[in-house]
Amino acid sequence: MTAVLSVTGLRRAFAGVVAVDDVSFEVRPGEVVSVIGPNGSGKTTTLNLVSGVLRADAGTIELDGRRIERASVERIVEAGIARTFQNGRVFAGLTVARNVEVGLHSTVRAARPLRRLSHLPLLRWVSLLAELAVALVPTPAARRERRRLANEVDAQLARFSDRLTSRRDDHAYTLSYANRRRTEIARALAPRPRLLLLDEPTAGMNPTETAEVLDQLIELKAAGQAMLLVEHKLDLVMTLSDRVLVMDDGRLIAQGTPAEVRNDPAVIEAYLGRRRERSR
Ligand SMILES: Nc1ncnc2c1ncn2[C@@H]1O[C@H](COP(=O)(O)OP(=O)(O)OP(=O)(O)O)[C@@H](O)[C@H]1O
Ligand SMILES: [Mg+2]
Repeated sequence: MTAVLSVTGLRRAFAGVVAVDDVSFEVRPGEVVSVIGPNGSGKTTTLNLVSGVLRADAGTIELDGRRIERASVERIVEAGIARTFQNGRVFAGLTVARNVEVGLHSTVRAARPLRRLSHLPLLRWVSLLAELAVALVPTPAARRERRRLANEVDAQLARFSDRLTSRRDDHAYTLSYANRRRTEIARALAPRPRLLLLDEPTAGMNPTETAEVLDQLIELKAAGQAMLLVEHKLDLVMTLSDRVLVMDDGRLIAQGTPAEVRNDPAVIEAYLGRRRERSR
């Protein structure tokens, strides 16, 4: 069975600091793979490389067997990778619904009639003009598309029971921190990605909010969503993951099932040991 994501020999340095050092792993269909490790061990950099936000110095990244390590972020999104960010990123001045709709941009066809030209620097303006024309005088297809988008946005909001649905038309700047993060997850899920990358989705959430997000991730997993998850909360990681990757100083020092990783002496030393020291 072809892996959804296959990463081989990935490397990235910043001014002499090797943030990701010869990292190889796979995410298979329907699998949840988590990345754990101390602060600064290279987890976010790994997600940034996979999502095309950063370029790798070396290594290959394949999505469904196709090489993407040189592709633009836009192409990678179209190919089926969606993500959330460690610090949470929503458009504060847009409503919740509009924020989620942004995630559907790569699926918009009728409202972007010459979208292929938008990849060409010299002809980008032609596609923008065509978009403007359809926005001013919507074609029947564009009106149908708007209804489809609205329905998909509502379906994503409904995942979070009434927490987001009741805030649908509120601006994101009025939301609680947890609701901003939910909005971000809804935006990432909207295009029904092949692979969902989550960078500490529950950071800053209290235990009740964390448990709620865990339930939603369990539901997503049951629906077959492949995920690559970075998370410090080990209970959540151990409950949700099929496999766990452990990073330290840019290197993958262990990988295996949650039980294997939990009992690995190198992991206890590198991750759990140091965490205990820090919390003293
Ligand atoms: N854009 C950048 N420029 C320079 N150095 C960077 C950059 N991004 C990351 N680094 C460095 O690379 C290393 C790995 O950082 P990264 O953010 O990937 O760690 P992390 O495992 O996500 O940590 P945390 O748990 O704190 O989020 C760190 O030493 C960090 O300072
Ligand atoms: Mg990080």
